[in-house]
Amino acid sequence: MSSTFDKPHALNRLPVTRTETCRACKTPLISFFDFGMMPLANGFLFPNQVADEKFYHLVSAVCPSCFLVQLLEQPMPDSMFHDQYPFFTSSSKEMTVHFQKTALEIHKKLLSFSPNPFVIEIGSNDGTFLHAMQQLGSKCLGIEPSQGPAQRAKQLGLEVDSRFFNPQTAASIQQTHGNADLIYAANAICHISDIHSVFTGIKSLLQPDGFFIFEDPYWLDVLEKKSIDQIYDEHAYLFHAHAIEKIASQNGLKLFHAERINTHGGSLRYFLCADHQREQSKELLSILEKEQETGLNQLETYHEFRLACLEQLNQLHRLLTDLTMRQKSIAGYAATSKSTTLLHLLNLNTSIIPWICDSTPEKQGKLTPGTHIPIVSPKFFHENYPDCAILFAYNHEKEIFEKETDFRLQGKQWISYVPSVRIL
Ligand code: TMP
Ligand code: ZN
Repeated sequence: MSSTFDKPHALNRLPVTRTETCRACKTPLISFFDFGMMPLANGFLFPNQVADEKFYHLVSAVCPSCFLVQLLEQPMPDSMFHDQYPFFTSSSKEMTVHFQKTALEIHKKLLSFSPNPFVIEIGSNDGTFLHAMQQLGSKCLGIEPSQGPAQRAKQLGLEVDSRFFNPQTAASIQQTHGNADLIYAANAICHISDIHSVFTGIKSLLQPDGFFIFEDPYWLDVLEKKSIDQIYDEHAYLFHAHAIEKIASQNGLKLFHAERINTHGGSLRYFLCADHQREQSKELLSILEKEQETGLNQLETYHEFRLACLEQLNQLHRLLTDLTMRQKSIAGYAATSKSTTLLHLLNLNTSIIPWICDSTPEKQGKLTPGTHIPIVSPKFFHENYPDCAILFAYNHEKEIFEKETDFRLQGKQWISYVPSVRIL
């Protein structure tokens, strides 16, 4: 599978940070998947912006010492997170419920003993989690440099700091607000390439008996489900418990518990504290063991993963070509950030997928990054059912199937590709 993007856009490059050594332990990295030149996963654009579209070189690598999966090159943070950032957590009802439940669980387990706990969320997006925390009686502060989602959080009555999180931001918050009882982050820590600066900042901002809890897409799920589309600019890292345990201890924190959760196609929630006497939970120990068994610390696993992903991509390509040859119409459902990687790898454009529907008003009327497929509303989908719809938001399958029951009743078909290519 070749990419048409390599040469023409090579000159139109985004500013990037680049490394050849592990960002956690400085060992020289080993690349295992070169995607070629890629547009920003969330770089949805208007037709008149196409000529100015910029690209970066997406290469996924693994550290042969700590086995942290990371990008060699990452666009600068302000290219990715800015006033046009189009992702809003509350666009999914299921995710809204997920964060409300998470807030309640954490409150009950860890915060209900403090009279007015102080909670900080790094990457607070539109405030879905923090709003729930505030309603449970916590004093809350969001940190969110993307203006659109931050504005929504402010409309919910939340205080939001729009700086990027680093030790300087942490020090200034500590001076104005004091130390936090809980620092939480969902799908945000893996976005920040300077991993030690995040952990140093967090350590300095936490109360000595405070907690740092975060969740991010889990490398073991990506490995098991061959979800290669999880690799894109915003995911500077795909974490696992072994790597986080090490990074935490290098920065005065202890990983004491972890839980596998279903969000974003499979994530891991990490629980850290500054109390080094605290025992590691049985759940964490069994997760660490499972990681070892899966071969996460063997380079061969990464080679096999690459081959398995290529085979899965080939299968999907064959299916789409076959459907097109049989005059079946195909459309996309949900213009996710992950779909940017997939569309690029399969070299798909409007000749195979003429449009993709998405419920986010900020994406409608725009084009997909790099492949320039128009994004339309769900209403357009309902009025123009294709024969087959590729489910790009496979992580929201349940929610989408519940509301789109009519699609199948009309004899139409869903195509999924994670964990395997199939017609549903
Ligand atoms: P995510 O996979 O990064 O959470 O992105 C989800 C995208 O899917 C987001 O653009 C909104 C879109 N979406 C729909 O279009 N319809 C839906 O029913 C849901 C749940 C999401
Ligand atoms: Zn390393």
